[in-house]
Amino acid sequence: MSGSIWSALASQTKQQGSLRQAFAEDPKRAQRFSVSACGLYLDYSKNLIDDTSWQILQDFAQQSSIKAKLSAMLAGDKVNNTEQRAVWHMLLRQKDVSNLSLDNQAIGAEINACREKMAALVEQLHNKNYLGYNNKVITDVIWIGIGGSLLGMEMAVEALTPYHSSPVQVHFVGNIDPVVVNDTLAKLNPDTTLVCIASKSFGTEETLQNALAIRQWFTDHGANAAAISHHFWAVTSNIAAAADFGIKASNTLPIWDWVGGRFSIWSAIGLPVAIIIGNANFQQLLAGAEAMDQHFIQSPFHSNMPVIMALLGIWYINGFGFKSQAILPYSHYLRLLPSYIQQLDMESNGKSVKTDGHNVSYATAPVIWGDAGTNGQHAYHQLLLQSDLVVPADFILAIKPEHQRHEQHQRLAANCFAQTQALMQGKTFTEAYQECLAQGQTPEQAASLAVHKVSAGNKPSNTLLLPTLSPYYLGSLIALYEHKIFCQGAMWQINSFDQWGVELGKQLSKPIFQALSGQHNQELDSSTDSLIRHFTNK
Ligand code: F6P
Repeated sequence: MSGSIWSALASQTKQQGSLRQAFAEDPKRAQRFSVSACGLYLDYSKNLIDDTSWQILQDFAQQSSIKAKLSAMLAGDKVNNTEQRAVWHMLLRQKDVSNLSLDNQAIGAEINACREKMAALVEQLHNKNYLGYNNKVITDVIWIGIGGSLLGMEMAVEALTPYHSSPVQVHFVGNIDPVVVNDTLAKLNPDTTLVCIASKSFGTEETLQNALAIRQWFTDHGANAAAISHHFWAVTSNIAAAADFGIKASNTLPIWDWVGGRFSIWSAIGLPVAIIIGNANFQQLLAGAEAMDQHFIQSPFHSNMPVIMALLGIWYINGFGFKSQAILPYSHYLRLLPSYIQQLDMESNGKSVKTDGHNVSYATAPVIWGDAGTNGQHAYHQLLLQSDLVVPADFILAIKPEHQRHEQHQRLAANCFAQTQALMQGKTFTEAYQECLAQGQTPEQAASLAVHKVSAGNKPSNTLLLPTLSPYYLGSLIALYEHKIFCQGAMWQINSFDQWGVELGKQLSKPIFQALSGQHNQELDSSTDSLIRHFTNK
């Protein structure tokens, strides 16, 4: 992709007219700029595009390496080139994997064996057949993991609250802040608690520290090595480290190096979701994702939902220079979606070096943030509507609620649509002035207040409608964002599947911990040194 495309994009943004005018001139704009896939409906008409710019963006996608990279990914090529790994998480939602092989390994058989073991554990827990070492029925599972080994599962468990069908409760322990593990353990009894250490590497500090704390809790309650090995499970690709920790092979579920942590909800890392919603619903989650995979693989770019969303992102980041993207689910149950997408997007595409090792000369991943609507309306929507920052936003809403309070759900939807409308059309001085007069103000009062009520409008948003927030559509939604991020990575020519940046902080924390715990004091910069002195009171 030549460098000139980026400047061409930037110069094209200057030709863009106002959205209010575009809607006034074209009553069919919403039909022209909308797309359906796997039951999801995306209205992208409230974006700063017209036929010309949209064509330029489509051409850009055609010339980019999206297709080549997708083919390479599906073929099992090592598209994660810095780690020399294939990227095959998509295959984990494929129903029939029996014939799959990678590098002459019968991967399909391994996936099937893992699925069976996982499903059997879920059944045992649901049927109250899993007894602890004191012959008491397991009632609670502690899930220890962080990042990709936690965020998606916490989000999906919350999102699918109406589908909870388990006699067992799952408790997530991620942060190294010991209050999390303390608060969790305070509620539980080791006799009836199963622990699962979810760590692809089995080397993540937070996870290992929490696992050690929980193992100690078992010991403090009189559990011996056999009891601990009965109560502890692991999902990992580092079987040896799990065994060293005391986890037996029969309590270990595999994950493969070709599954990136942030793409791992489809693997045995998704176990807590399966435990909470049951095996059949978990299959639905996979099926919804697989449907989105097929849509992505087969659809031409002009009607390809992930490609469309990726292009809009590129347009804003590289054309307009908007550096931020809000994810605004109008669903309390989807309130953890923004932090899930945060890792998915920012850890994947927050890069400044291309796959070939050269520096990029353009911006990459945006800052992802957001929270559930309508809460955000009473917090940061003021900035979205009236500051000079432009933050493209994805509004996400389920059409049919999983409850009977239909009128209240309609009010939720009305707020969602009204926000996208307010961002798009804004409010002119004349409208604000007339509004003030209609409220009984004098012309002088109206003129002085109206300036404060003006909202520039022309702020872009997508509206994404799900038929319901079911396991199937949640699967499609997650896969949609995965593919969007993949397309953007391909267009930016970066490797979306490594995360070397996060290693630096991990490395530096080791000598600092040694200094804090009085073991060793090495030369440090004056700020870090003085922080350590304050912390240790020296
Ligand atoms: O934050 C870095 C990271 O490696 C993520 O990519 C990953 O999801 C997380 O840590 C947890 O890693 P693991 O599953 O190996 O413990």
